[in-house]
Amino acid sequence: MTSAASLRNTLSSHVVGRTRELELVLAALAADRHVLLEGPPGTGKSTLLRAVAQGLGIGFEFVEGNAELTPARLVGHFDPARVLNEGYDPSVFVDGPLVSAMRDGSLLYVEEINRIPEETLNVLITVMSEAELNVPRLGRIAASPGFRLVAAMNPFDAVGTARISGAVYDRVCRVGRSCSSYSSAS
Ligand SMILES: Nc1ncnc2c1ncn2[C@@H]1O[C@H](COP(=O)(O)OP(=O)(O)OP(=O)(O)O)[C@@H](O)[C@H]1O
Ligand SMILES: [Mg+2]
Repeated sequence: MTSAASLRNTLSSHVVGRTRELELVLAALAADRHVLLEGPPGTGKSTLLRAVAQGLGIGFEFVEGNAELTPARLVGHFDPARVLNEGYDPSVFVDGPLVSAMRDGSLLYVEEINRIPEETLNVLITVMSEAELNVPRLGRIAASPGFRLVAAMNPFDAVGTARISGAVYDRVCRVGRSCSSYSSAS
């Protein structure tokens, strides 16, 4: 692609340094892979991904990962008031960020993925391996081309980092730097 170099240049003007991470993220997305960005807080993970999504001209759904991120909050829900009148019609379903990103073929960016509950993590793992999701009463949602999960986490966080390992690492490209390279850089 001739535009790849110019895209990298444009992105470098928004993200200071981080050229290696930028290249790895762009390569992983081009290869249709999901990405896990690892790094301490405030080191430009969100900045880098926002710039990439903008540069590639693709949509971007942002989700803050925490213990309250239930599967229903991530996937979406049937509006209870409207269900009373209209029943479980697909038009009554309020898309959550995951379903929206799958329908639109956008990036789903989950911050602090290590902090989300196990059951929510399982939904993401299913979507990563099957590229589809079964929602009770709504049916099957297939991921449109372009849908990608991009997650971030602080690998030195005390919460939930251990359980991320096997299940998620097998299905993502890991992009990040080690602790020692951060301390020596500063
Ligand atoms: N490499 C960078 N280039 C440009 N701005 C940066 C860079 N790194 C950090 N910043 C600035 O620092 C702030 C924090 O960065 P950002 O939110 O992207 O970090 P983060 O890694 O996502 O942090 P957290 O883990 O807390 O979510 C932002 O205002 C951003 O503009
Ligand atoms: Mg961030």
